[in-house]
Amino acid sequence: MSFNVRPETMARITTPALAAAFIEEQVAALRAQIGDKKVLLALSGGVDSSVVAALLIKAVGKQLVCVHVNHGLMRKGESEQVIEVFGKELDANLIYVDATDRFLDLLAGVSEPERKRKIIGAEFIKVFDEESSKLEGIDFLAQGTIYPDILESDGVKAHHNVGGLPEDMKMELVEPVKLLYKDEVRVVGEALGLPHNMVYRQPFPGPGLGVRCLGAITRDRLHALREADAILREEFDNAGLAGKVWQYFIAVPDTKSVGVRDGKRYEGWPAIIRAVNTTDAMSATIEELPYALLHKITDRITHEVEGINRVLYDLTPKPIGTIEWE
Ligand code: XMP
Repeated sequence: MSFNVRPETMARITTPALAAAFIEEQVAALRAQIGDKKVLLALSGGVDSSVVAALLIKAVGKQLVCVHVNHGLMRKGESEQVIEVFGKELDANLIYVDATDRFLDLLAGVSEPERKRKIIGAEFIKVFDEESSKLEGIDFLAQGTIYPDILESDGVKAHHNVGGLPEDMKMELVEPVKLLYKDEVRVVGEALGLPHNMVYRQPFPGPGLGVRCLGAITRDRLHALREADAILREEFDNAGLAGKVWQYFIAVPDTKSVGVRDGKRYEGWPAIIRAVNTTDAMSATIEELPYALLHKITDRITHEVEGINRVLYDLTPKPIGTIEWE
């Protein structure tokens, strides 16, 4: 049996007690594997890499070096949370790289979705590689691989992993959650004391807001998207919908319409709300949002976000629409 196969006897981790047992076992295994060497981790702030970071901090403390690359396509407050939780609260060895300008300069004028993804993926590897080559004496590379990644590594979702790192990195892999399903990673994350909103985060594409700022990305439209998305998330929180709806976000197309504000013509972009439920992301249904909530979100976004003059609700299930617009 390969080490990449989950043993049938392995119980599903559903309770804090089972998580605690897993953590204890992994901490011992990590210490045995790593010894007094150093480990590098690309920390995106997503559930999987965050849980791996917390496990490694518990096991080997400052021997872990986390690199957080801000590609400028994060949601509002995300990089700040990584710095707060890992840099400050958990006192990790954290290297923060603000590569916003590099990414946005490369993406300027590029409108084709798959090309945008490729640029973001390749640049991510380049930045990470540059940072890691500045470090000395790193023998291990930690990754937040989870069991579905192994089961799905048939190429279907290959484009999904922006964090796919170069094969020629001569480091031994450390993958402490590779036999866990997502729900188990979350239970372990909570048991490790990570914030609830980090552990129960909805899925977020590796290329981030890059695939929601439709067509060629501009800084002003990206800014409007980030602000509108933050309002949407806040209002879902207020309405008690966070954690109930599987994935929700805003997309902003590269089209303007005529509007009126303060008695004057006001051209702006539309903000498109997407709110879907699914179990496996292969098909998805639309959440039936209360009308009053849609009203409130529309009101706030059109008043508070510079550049947006309409709000639309995308009612298209998957299929025929994919969850993301690009
Ligand atoms: P689609 O749009 O294909 O999305 O219906 C299915 C799920 O995958 C996420 N998604 C991505 N995740 N990199 C990722 O890491 C990507 O390029 C990407 N594209 C889509 C999407 O958010 C949804 O959860």
